[in-house]
Amino acid sequence: MILEVRFTPSALASDPALRNVTAVVIDVLRASSTIVAALISGARAVIPTDSVENAVEIAHRLGGDRTVLAGERNSLPIPGFQLGNSPASCNAETVAGKTVVMTTTNGTRAFQQTHGAQMVLCGALMNARNVAQTIAAAGEDQRVVLLCAGSYGLFSMDDAIGAGAIVHELRNIAGGNISSISNLTILDSAHAALRLFQHAESDLSAALLQSDHGAHLASLGFADDVRFCAQLNVDAAPVPSFDGSLLRVADAAPAPHPQLRF
Ligand code: MLT
Repeated sequence: MILEVRFTPSALASDPALRNVTAVVIDVLRASSTIVAALISGARAVIPTDSVENAVEIAHRLGGDRTVLAGERNSLPIPGFQLGNSPASCNAETVAGKTVVMTTTNGTRAFQQTHGAQMVLCGALMNARNVAQTIAAAGEDQRVVLLCAGSYGLFSMDDAIGAGAIVHELRNIAGGNISSISNLTILDSAHAALRLFQHAESDLSAALLQSDHGAHLASLGFADDVRFCAQLNVDAAPVPSFDGSLLRVADAAPAPHPQLRF
């Protein structure tokens, strides 16, 4: 298994070396964490889309009673949408049994870059260990690209720390006694992410709050969202899998976990 991190969004299909990879889209603050929270809370699926217009059109087509519109622009809720991009607002009451149609500035758009990948997962700190286990279960013979959503095309510390958490978990699996990965090649980019995670690990909330985007969210009154997204390895956190249009938990839909609280 070869493991690398792309710290800024990159279109996998435009790079022949990246076709047929396993891709993990990471937007710790906050899109990936919100997607994970929605699926923990019993949402049927999440549809990540690039524009407000597309989101409204998809929700209209699927039926307003079956869908919930969620997302942000410049981190603020979109007028007319039921939910913003706060993970804690995706609870059983708001999303259970519904399809969440979501548009965010960077995170949901990053899924559009994964065309050409063999398997696409959604990663956050909350589900880092579960993502690593899903990747390991898919076998040795993979190139894995941890694709950070970044911020307006630039490096974003929260995503790099999230990527590092997944590298950390994969390294633990590979080093374990009963390992499903015997041959893990960690490229420099993945080593760099691992170092950032190790540096932040003792206080992930503080590390995220010190990041550019974390500080911006806190200045808008979303510091609790940042702390929510800093939760590492929540047992019930599923691994959303993207089929080109829908993000769903592989296998059966999860039972709602109304106990998920920050
Ligand atoms: C994004 O997709 O750009 C983020 O999730 C922004 C945010 O924190 O709402």
